[in-house]
Parts: sequence; C-alpha cells; structure tokens
Amino acid sequence: MTLLTNKMKGMLKMFVSENLGVNENGHLTIGGIDTVDLAQEYGTPLYVMDEQVIRSNLRRFHESMQKYYDGKGEVHYASKAFSCLEMCRIVASEGDGLDAVSIGELYTAVKAGFPMEKVGFHGNNKTDEELEYAIEVGVGHIIVDNLPELRRLEKIAAEKGVKPHIMFRIKPGIDAHTHDFVKTGQIDSKFGFALETGEAFEAVKEAVSCENVKLVGLHCHIGSQIFDIDPFVEAAKVMLGLIAKIKDNLGYEIAGLNLGGGFGIKYLNEHDPVPFEKYLEKVSEAVKSECARLNITQPMIYIEPGRSIAAPAGITLYKVGARKEIPNIRTYISVDGGMADSPRYILYGSEYEAIVANKANEERTEKVTIAGKCCESGDLIGENMPLQHAESGDIIAVCATGAYNYSMSSNYNRLQKPAVVFVNNGQSRIAVKRETLDDIIRNDI
Ligand code: LLP
Repeated sequence: MTLLTNKMKGMLKMFVSENLGVNENGHLTIGGIDTVDLAQEYGTPLYVMDEQVIRSNLRRFHESMQKYYDGKGEVHYASKAFSCLEMCRIVASEGDGLDAVSIGELYTAVKAGFPMEKVGFHGNNKTDEELEYAIEVGVGHIIVDNLPELRRLEKIAAEKGVKPHIMFRIKPGIDAHTHDFVKTGQIDSKFGFALETGEAFEAVKEAVSCENVKLVGLHCHIGSQIFDIDPFVEAAKVMLGLIAKIKDNLGYEIAGLNLGGGFGIKYLNEHDPVPFEKYLEKVSEAVKSECARLNITQPMIYIEPGRSIAAPAGITLYKVGARKEIPNIRTYISVDGGMADSPRYILYGSEYEAIVANKANEERTEKVTIAGKCCESGDLIGENMPLQHAESGDIIAVCATGAYNYSMSSNYNRLQKPAVVFVNNGQSRIAVKRETLDDIIRNDI
C-alpha cells in the first residue's frame, strides 16, 4: 500500500480530479497507475482515460435521472465528446443511451454492438446517406433539425416502408452564459427551429400530418460548459410551454422531452461547478411543477451529457523537449504534441491545469507557456500555467482532457494521432492505437 506523506497529501489538492494521486516515487498516478510508466510503455503524446471515472459519472447521471423522474428519465451520452469502440461498449454496459451526430459516430456505435434503439441521431445537415443509415441500423430517434430534412426523411421512410420516430430540435431562445462558439439555444444559431418566430409550431403542424414519420418528442440543447442552473430550468419551462401549446391547439401529445447536455466541469482548481445532481434536481422540480401548471402529462425526459462524463476521466501525457526562457517575456516549455491533439486552447482559449508527472510531489513554482510542436505560434496548450520546473525529458500531464480533445484531434502537420489507453484499478489497456506513418498516407494515391 502506498503511504502518502503530508506533503503529498497537500499536493493532491492541486489536482482537478479525484482519481489522480501521487505515489511513493513522487509520480502522478491515474486510476492507481504511475503515469510515468504509462508514458514509457505506450509512448507520448498519450490520452489516458480512467474507466472508473467514466462509469461513476454515468451512474451518477443515471441514478439521478431515475430518482428525479421516477424512472421516466434516460441518459444519452453525447459521443461527440469522446467516441471509440471501447467507450461505446462501456456506455452500453452501463445501460445508458447515446447521442450520435454523424454516420461515423453511428458506425462506431454499431460496430461496438451498441443497442441502436437507445441512440438519438442529431445533426443540422444530415445527408440522405446518413438518414438512410440511421433508419437501417434502427436508431431510436432521429432529431430533425429543419423542414427540408423532415421532407427528405418522410420520402426516405416511405421508400423503405418504415415509420421512424423523430424529435424536433428547438431553439428555445435561452442565453446560456458560456463561450459564443458553444452557445446553441439562441435564435441566431444554425441548429433547429426557432420558437419565438412561430417556426417551431408550424413545423410541428407539418410533422403531425406526416404519414411516414412519427413525432414523439422535442429536443433542445442550450450550450456547453454552463455553470448556471437557471438557463437549464428556463429552457425546460419554455419547452414544456411548447408541448402544452401543441396539446391545446393540435390535440397532439408529445411523449418525450430531451433537454440536451452542457453541464459545466472543473478544468481549473478555482472552478467550483455545481454537482450535476443539483442541476437535475432543480430541473426536475421545474418540470414537475410546470407540467402540473400546464395540465400536461410529464414527458419522458432525456439528457445528453458529454463533457461532464468524459472530460474528468482523461489526462494527456506529453514529453518535454525544449525549454526556452525569454528574459522578461516568458518561458516556453515545448512538448511533443500540441493543437493537433489538444485543439481547445487555440479554438476557445480553454484553460487546463498541468503537472510535471515525474515531479508531482514538488510545488508548482513557475508560470510557463506550454507550447506544441506545430508550425503555428498559436499552437499552445496554455499560457501562464503554474508548473513545476520542467526540463527536457520530463513528462507533463494535462488534466481533464477526456472530452473534445481526442474527438477533435487532427493530423495537422501530418502528425500521427496519439494512442488512447484506458486504465482501470491498476490495469491499463490500449483502446485506440497510435497512428503509424503508414496511417498518415493511407488514403493518398
Ligand atoms: N447534445 C447536443 C445536441 C450537443 O450539441 C452537445 C454538444 C451535447 C449534447 C453535449 O454537450 P456537453 O455535455 O458535452 O457540454 N467542442 C466544444 C464543445 C461543443 C459542444 C457541442 N455540442 C468544446 O470543446 O468545448
């Protein structure tokens, strides 16, 4: 058993995630495994995902949904946050559903043996090929974004002689206080039907008269990395208002309401997000009282958390190459990855905590810029980051990278995408292989 010194215990406080620790060698651990050993065994850059954290997050959501909606609530993990066969298998084994947004995410789920009736298929511009595939593999819901899509789907369904269940993506007109790029609920958004212009209601009218699709639900997703509860509560109320309007005016009962994802997580030590149970509790109270007030049957409630399940489970490991001190300006610590595997800083200025994994029991005495190896000045993991004194050969761990890093990674500069390793109570296994040089040219003619 590892005995932690008081100093080590003190160090644990600086970590954003509870599954991280420090062992007797002063090395950072994840899921009970020495991260320096992981870097050595699998190479760097390396994505590491802790299976126990994923499972425990899924269960927290699942149990809260069961509790607060009396068994009439479902969790659909948003696979855009992090998808691979192993992730789909884990979600399936927990009994939860999936949100997929492309034929590639659907295909991954199919190949993982995912129960496709628990999948919601999204997208603001689905192709015919995607719609056909979604029908063929039997997804539970197709979340229709616009009228041309509804009409195409109606035609495809007629040709195939099936009647898929659909939901409508609605823009509830709620301002979620988050980064502009990840806001989606406001009227100026490419996603869904607008509520306040009457567009949504008109579209519902058309859908209920369709012969080959069955409208079974409404959907909204107001944005991502949201720390306030209020916008979620407001969105739920607005959506229930629309359900009531549909019932009163069209005599049509909407059986399902999907409230999307977007729950904020702790990226920095100073972040103090509301535990997601609290969001769910507050939203469920609003749903219950609003249903009673509007005299509607409480619909089945779905949620689609992505980041809050995957992000806290992951870290990325890099090896330090050059250290460059520019007097009175800054110190650059260059690592063997960058924007190709960690694109969120250059995209959104998103900040992370980092630790020198092989010096995890030391104080973070410096403030540095961690730079990637791409040919681009903006290719940074972060600026002004507290870090132990890092030198060539050290291993840096960037925390809470489990969502929207691997899934948004690229081959910029023809870099090979890193491997993904899963750890589970002291064991590690490869889930996605590191790309080879031949992978880099595999589609080149
Ligand atoms: N449902 C829908 C319809 C969505 O569009 C999204 C995220 C989710 C659920 C999951 O949201 P989450 O729980 O993960 O916040 N690349 C950005 C985030 C984009 C989110 C896109 N939609 C980032 O790295 O911050």
